[in-house]
Amino acid sequence: MDGIEKDYVFHRDLKKEYPIITHGAGSYLIDENGKKYLDACSGAVAANLGHGISSIGEAMAEQAKKAAFVHTMRFETKVLHQLAEKIGKMAPDNLNKVYFTTGGSEANESALKLARQYHRDAGRQQKHIVIGRWQSYHGNTIGSLSAGGDVNRRHAYTPNLLNYAHVYSPYCHRCPYGRHKNDCISRQNWTCVTDIERIILELGPENVSAFIAEPIVGSQQGAVPPPSGYFEKVRELCDRYDIVLIIDEVMTGFGRSGTHFATEQIGITPDIITFGKGVSAGYAPLAGMIVHNRLIDGLINNSDGKFIHGYTYSGHPVAVAAGLAALKIYEQDRVLENVKKQSAYLFNRLMELKQKHSYISDIRGRGLLIGIELVKDREHDLLFDPVEKAAERINEIAMDLGAVFYPGSGSIDGTKGEHLIVSPPLTVTKTEIDEIVRILDESFTILKRHLRKDEFYEITK
Ligand SMILES: Cc1ncc(COP(=O)(O)O)c(C=O)c1O
Repeated sequence: MDGIEKDYVFHRDLKKEYPIITHGAGSYLIDENGKKYLDACSGAVAANLGHGISSIGEAMAEQAKKAAFVHTMRFETKVLHQLAEKIGKMAPDNLNKVYFTTGGSEANESALKLARQYHRDAGRQQKHIVIGRWQSYHGNTIGSLSAGGDVNRRHAYTPNLLNYAHVYSPYCHRCPYGRHKNDCISRQNWTCVTDIERIILELGPENVSAFIAEPIVGSQQGAVPPPSGYFEKVRELCDRYDIVLIIDEVMTGFGRSGTHFATEQIGITPDIITFGKGVSAGYAPLAGMIVHNRLIDGLINNSDGKFIHGYTYSGHPVAVAAGLAALKIYEQDRVLENVKKQSAYLFNRLMELKQKHSYISDIRGRGLLIGIELVKDREHDLLFDPVEKAAERINEIAMDLGAVFYPGSGSIDGTKGEHLIVSPPLTVTKTEIDEIVRILDESFTILKRHLRKDEFYEITK
């Protein structure tokens, strides 16, 4: 690399070399050698408006020149109020207060702590346990990692994790409870719901503070939406046992699922919605939570108005200006309309690919958050061995061919199960979708060749 003498970067993988991106334009990233990558996963489902939008950069620069930093313990800015108002208006009725953080992990950490403080200050001293779901991801800080159920990410830190409880989510394609979708739903006898109640009773409802779930399970399971009716039942349980319901929309929010929030599609009002990624479309580290009036009233009446929490960079003016500029573009460019249109087209094209490749066992998702479950042989439902790293290999092949996807593993039980997430910028065009599908098609064909030859697998860089 020009002008760099020694590598001082603590890389995600210290044994790997990463392409150096010099710039981006729309759905593409371009590296220092001029190679173009179609960003078919919006980075980590964050760069929702694509790359190189100068108006967002200009809004950030403008704010940085005026007041780059104020501490929210003493001061606030107009952009903070403007963005909070926009988000509050998008949220379900009665969720009217917006709290900002820099990332999704911090947003969930804040939500878990708020639930605890809300109960404690109302005299429910014992309520502290959080119930999360296996194969869900809520972040990498100790609290959010404890609430999540990503076996691989948790494993190394097991002794450090908090004593939270977990149930399985409704992964009807391969029900972890061994039930059949039609049977269980038609008989209104959902094991994935009764198990939540079982665990609440086992822990003692007086000890349970919050239930946290992604409305569509993202990175760890590969865009799995819930069966309709599931979250209504979860809401009923939370009401019955006075448990704060946190819906993690860090990945699904701001149009990714086809509506402003996926919560609109699951038909309930949560107590807290956490958000991140898409709010600034990746232009600045920005995330947060939107809180129900009930919890806010609790803080005002029982906690002297104070949430015992906060970060130096909460509501950072430059990050908030980026969010405001991004939301302006979502609105002006009618991005949601594009999501609806391109989602249908992308689903259709992927279904065609499924006919062609027996590696594809399931295609699911909402909007432009689409998951492809990968198996070695669909007809015999033969799973890939985790050591084959099928999803990662397909993505490496695709990157070689000029597109990047979001691979994941452990989607079935934490170790087995491979998937790819296809989540291009919400501004993606039909031509770009054709390119995404063409590269995926070719990648599957190349993978087949490699596996057939059983040769040492190497990608030419
Ligand atoms: C659903 C969900 N929650 C939380 C997080 C954590 O967000 P961050 O990486 O910004 O801390 C992620 C990140 O992928 C996510 O997908």
